[in-house]
Amino acid sequence: MQNQYIKIFDTTLRDGEQSPGATLTSFEKLEIARMLASLGVDIIEAGFPAASPDDLEGVRKIAKEVGNSPSGGSDENDSLPVICGLARANKKDIDAAWEAVKHAAKPRIHTFLATSPIHMKFKLNMDSEEVVELVKEMVAYAKSYCDDIEFSPEDAGRSDPEFLYLVLGEAIKAGATTINIPDTVGYTIPEEFGALIAGIIEHTPGVENVVVSVHCHDDLGLATANTLAGIAAGAGQAEVTMNGIGERAGNTSLEEIVMAIRTRRKIFELETGIDTTLITRMSRMVSNYTGIPVQPNKAIVGANAFAHEAGIHQDGMLKNQMTYEIMQPDMVGQSHSRLVLGKHSGRHAFKAHLAEIGYQLNKEELERTFKRFKEVADRKKTITDADLEAIVADQISQPREIFSLDGLQVTCGTMGMPTATVRLNGPDGELHVHAAIGTGPVDAAFSAIDVIVKAPNILVEYSVNAITEGIDAIGEVSVRLQAENGSIPRRRSPQSNQAQARTFGGHGVDTDIIVASAKAYLAALNKLLVASGHYAELEEKTAESLQPAK
Ligand code: KIV
Ligand code: ZN
Repeated sequence: MQNQYIKIFDTTLRDGEQSPGATLTSFEKLEIARMLASLGVDIIEAGFPAASPDDLEGVRKIAKEVGNSPSGGSDENDSLPVICGLARANKKDIDAAWEAVKHAAKPRIHTFLATSPIHMKFKLNMDSEEVVELVKEMVAYAKSYCDDIEFSPEDAGRSDPEFLYLVLGEAIKAGATTINIPDTVGYTIPEEFGALIAGIIEHTPGVENVVVSVHCHDDLGLATANTLAGIAAGAGQAEVTMNGIGERAGNTSLEEIVMAIRTRRKIFELETGIDTTLITRMSRMVSNYTGIPVQPNKAIVGANAFAHEAGIHQDGMLKNQMTYEIMQPDMVGQSHSRLVLGKHSGRHAFKAHLAEIGYQLNKEELERTFKRFKEVADRKKTITDADLEAIVADQISQPREIFSLDGLQVTCGTMGMPTATVRLNGPDGELHVHAAIGTGPVDAAFSAIDVIVKAPNILVEYSVNAITEGIDAIGEVSVRLQAENGSIPRRRSPQSNQAQARTFGGHGVDTDIIVASAKAYLAALNKLLVASGHYAELEEKTAESLQPAK
């Protein structure tokens, strides 16, 4: 029997970007969207265009550049992702969503309105009749622009099922083509959520003509289980984010759903269009750009997801890999343990190896990355694929460098005051040097950078992670920071309408973790400077080569 196809709707750029601290630049959004398209997701929810003119522009860019094939041929269009924009149930939001997505070959408007008693009473201040009327009116309004309309009854997990059948039936009558069932606050348990989906499929008028979708949040750690229960009950679309990022505890993670369906194919009898070998790279890109590290024990994409520590496990693995491994690391593009290149490797071998693992760099990027590789190889005996990926990402993915690190020297230890001297390339083309003391070498380096960059901020997170094992491992640092004194306009969440402080993430890689820290801090500061409107005239650079080779 042929497996049924389940659509993967990725909302990393919308619900994921609503995570505290996941502010992405438009360059980063475009890069992520391109990579999502290569991964094979069916629908990209590219943002919430009514949030701000910047958000609208970001979605529009994705619609134009990722939602269209260069030739415009209909065969090529078939493989393009749908580009979707979110809108609350009002005309202004729907107008903005359409403005943003209309350039895509396959545009979608996603509108939503809450249906749970608590949301209707306290958030909307509307009764159930008024909610039904507004849904009918706004779905029809969205339909006047676009054929492909998704409607979500927000907080469906706490809504009365009978009321859902009525609202969803009216949404379908008004033109919705996908009805998405969100467990907005991550409240349900799998049996309950599965039964809710089964009930909707059984009782909603017209449901046989539309796609039923599921959208779960992870407040009780049940998002993946609930999504799978919804799929088992007949949903044809799963809404997910990379690494499970999203509001509060996050959303269902793409990698968990896709690999559960693949690994337990006989149970689900489903398939997705995802190229699973790109999952690890996609996960790193999202983590690097958002500055949100992936926990080491995270299923599928965590650093330990395929590591075997206990002697008894290692022994079993040597005899037969399947003793302790239900998936092989290369299925998700993990190739940690291959020792590949050393300091004597030439440019040719370097280029050939990069091509083999999927990177086609242009001449200038190749030169820059090769130079960096040599510097790292001088300090680290062997460079693995994971090291190489980190070097490439570090060299060609920094979105806009206003200030960049030219040199750093620290003194630290127990015998004196931790002191750092930093030398930065500035936007004026000059070198800026400053020395500062701190509670430790990282604090001293950040203080010296602060004096030069002059972007007052609050550091909200700092984390260090070793990419590969061993004393000479490459260290990866993520930082997240917020502008001090509210100098950057706050941003509203589409659901709560509450203003949230914007957080900027940065990522740096080096065998020296103080250097990696300084780079990560500068990357985050550069984003803060761009968001504050300074240096807007500097050109954004694009890095097509980050995309996997076709
Ligand atoms: O969680 C939620 O309810 C949402 C809707 C906008 C679908 O993200
Ligand atoms: Zn959500």
